[in-house]
Amino acid sequence: MVQRFILNETSYFGPGARKVLPEVIQRLGKKKALVVTDKGLIQFGVAKMVTDVLDEAAVAYDVFSEVKPNPTVKNVQDGVAAFKASGADLLVAIGGGSAMDTAKGIGIVVANPEFADVVSLEGCAPTKNKSVPMVALPTTAGTAAETTINYVIIDEEKKKKMVCVDPNDIPAVAMIDAELMYSLPRGLTAATGMDALTHAIEGYITKGAWEMSDMFEIEAIRMISRYLPVAVDEPQNPEGRNGMAVAQYIAGMAFSNVGLGLVHGMAHPMGSLFDVPHGVANALLLPTVMEYNMPECIDKYPRIAEAMGVDIKGLTPQEASQAAVDAVRALAIRVGIPQHLSDLGIKESDIPALAEQAIADVCTPGNPRDCSLEDIKALYRQVL
Ligand SMILES: NC(=O)c1ccc[n+]([C@@H]2O[C@H](COP(=O)([O-])OP(=O)(O)OC[C@H]3O[C@@H](n4cnc5c(N)ncnc54)[C@H](O)[C@@H]3O)[C@@H](O)[C@H]2O)c1
Ligand SMILES: [Fe+2]
Repeated sequence: MVQRFILNETSYFGPGARKVLPEVIQRLGKKKALVVTDKGLIQFGVAKMVTDVLDEAAVAYDVFSEVKPNPTVKNVQDGVAAFKASGADLLVAIGGGSAMDTAKGIGIVVANPEFADVVSLEGCAPTKNKSVPMVALPTTAGTAAETTINYVIIDEEKKKKMVCVDPNDIPAVAMIDAELMYSLPRGLTAATGMDALTHAIEGYITKGAWEMSDMFEIEAIRMISRYLPVAVDEPQNPEGRNGMAVAQYIAGMAFSNVGLGLVHGMAHPMGSLFDVPHGVANALLLPTVMEYNMPECIDKYPRIAEAMGVDIKGLTPQEASQAAVDAVRALAIRVGIPQHLSDLGIKESDIPALAEQAIADVCTPGNPRDCSLEDIKALYRQVL
């Protein structure tokens, strides 16, 4: 079997990495940037930490901040208009998955105008041209959108999250600067960190996983279980923040290339229909879906338990696998993730609509255990 692995051309890591930005822009030969970010990041002064670097180096830029969490087709189309109006030749994405995914949509549509409707980009669209070059600076330690070939946009008409998978969208340069994450509030640190853990676990057990992706995912699981509680409890702790920043990137390097599974398939409709933050949806579902997948993962779950610091000596594979699920559930509870859909305002009568979207989601076929619509409804009911 032939395996494909796509990664950023160049990435920078470490607190303060953003300071290399002017040098990178010069090397790319670009003249003006469109900064894509969101209102929260402007309010918290995070976008300014990056634009200050541009100002000091007299790099020209405009700012587009019309990005909402769980971004929409309209956000992308407004961004395309802003890019054209500004005369920019480079995108600088500053934010979590929402800002980076919007920037990816903008970059793809500008370079491939036949996809201006955005909705035709769902799945694996046959775009011909690489995105406008993009430098991506994550401000959450979660999605790893700075290194993945995916972006997720809501189709408002169908009230549905579209997962777009396109090697042409990968940012040319990623800057993993933990200082941009110090202001992330506790709840968002927990939720985005659990999103990263979900990437690592689903990327580890997905049907497409192989030795190279396993190597990344198991290290990401180890780092996240070690550093997430530190980042949640001590937001200014450089070791905790940098550990999470690097761990979520490592998880992304692999899952971007091998896919995810049912947790993401079931989390996406919770975002599109109920605006549940992506990481919260994943974290709430993860242990229960892991239990459902256990028959197919009995060789891999013990490795997850070990990576999370559980001593599995003397345990049967079944017991060690259950220990992995228990460790994941304990971590979610430890960092304050809600445990029931009803805590989020979701009712029993909402389950059929959620399940219909989940079974059709691009991530679901990657799940190690094949599932039916009825299985998915039963899983939602289990966490109701
Ligand atoms: N591209 C991918 O591969 C991929 C993978 C997983 C998820 N996603 C998508 O990414 C989106 C979620 O992204 P996210 O979880 O990173 O959150 P987000 O980008 O939606 O941000 C959530 C909130 O956090 C705020 N915020 C972000 N960084 C901050 C900081 N440092 N300080 C203070 N506030 C800050 C933002 O202003 C926003 O209000 C979803 O749409 C999800 O579907 C994409
Ligand atoms: Fe995710």
